[in-house]
Amino acid sequence: MLRRLHHEQPESFAFTPANLAWAETQITKYPEGRQASAVIALLWRAQEQEGWLSRPAIEYVADMLGMARIRALEVATFYFMFQLKPVGSVANFQICGTLSCMIMGAEDLIAVCKEKIAPEPHMLSADGKFSWEEVECLGACSNAPMAQIGKDYYEDLTVESFSDLIDRMAAGEVPVPGPQNGRYAAEPLDGLTSLTEYDSGRTQYNASVARAVELGDTLKRIDGTEVPLTAPWLGKGRTVEVKARKTPARNVADANAKAAKTTAQDKGRPAVTSEAMAATEATPAKPKTMSGPRETGADDLKQIKGVGPKLESLLNSMGFYHFDQVAKWTEAEVAWVDENLEGFKGRVSRDGWVDQARTLSEGGETAFSKKVKKGDVY
Ligand code: FES
Repeated sequence: MLRRLHHEQPESFAFTPANLAWAETQITKYPEGRQASAVIALLWRAQEQEGWLSRPAIEYVADMLGMARIRALEVATFYFMFQLKPVGSVANFQICGTLSCMIMGAEDLIAVCKEKIAPEPHMLSADGKFSWEEVECLGACSNAPMAQIGKDYYEDLTVESFSDLIDRMAAGEVPVPGPQNGRYAAEPLDGLTSLTEYDSGRTQYNASVARAVELGDTLKRIDGTEVPLTAPWLGKGRTVEVKARKTPARNVADANAKAAKTTAQDKGRPAVTSEAMAATEATPAKPKTMSGPRETGADDLKQIKGVGPKLESLLNSMGFYHFDQVAKWTEAEVAWVDENLEGFKGRVSRDGWVDQARTLSEGGETAFSKKVKKGDVY
């Protein structure tokens, strides 16, 4: 399969302050002159942040690691785990199409994807929430057919249970991963035939599912704020310097510039600047709302990537009708809206609504809004 960069690219990429701090810390794992060893980790983080790898993101990582951009492009285009096109803002469904899953009904699951998400793989659904692709064996063959959705495996799927999962995710739910037919793990379908004494010691979920449930959101993308950053390999601390980037960092330019040179002073402490951390911890403040749209009518908020019909009506019900309202949200206001989008928490920052709305309110277009206008969003 040809793996090419997407024909429409954003103007720029920048890590969020927290992800930048995380990336800088990762680089310190490797000896001087070997920073390029962190390329997969950083590309993966960039993908976690944006959902896919754009050319600016790949070049940003290459510049950060002081390596030739073509080397980072080689890595990104070689590995299938890197998405080179935009994926659904909520989830990209990876359907295993290898032998066991194929025998057990993977083609039926793919038919569901075609019907409910998009007719072709790597194509966005109409509301931009979902995309799908067929992948090779994911190593859960005894629970075939299965799919990886977000970070977790959903196993023992049927057409009905898989359709239901998609519907629930579309409604903002995060269904419990693991076997969907009542099986505990990968034991025989009609129960254990050996080691039966372990049956009584079962917890509610098997270990993988329990961990996923504990983390709370299988579908959430990593934004650098999930776990405390630790760098035990740093010893007494060292200076981490990020090389100047040629790619303009539009989204969080100021915070990144401040965070670009940091020093991890204490043993086990990450290289995180106070400015960078403060940028991720804005106190939520409610933005100004309107009682109704202006006389000219409400803007089509669905032109913002990540906003589907349901989210648009939720925004309208909260008093947001126009691009320029969203464009003016401060960091604190983004935090408030993110918190109050019932069923869609975190979507504003995750999908970069403010930047998109700014472009749209100024009469410009984004790659996504062009698609919406052309009717290319399925
Ligand atoms: S064949 Fe599908 S997980 Fe192995």
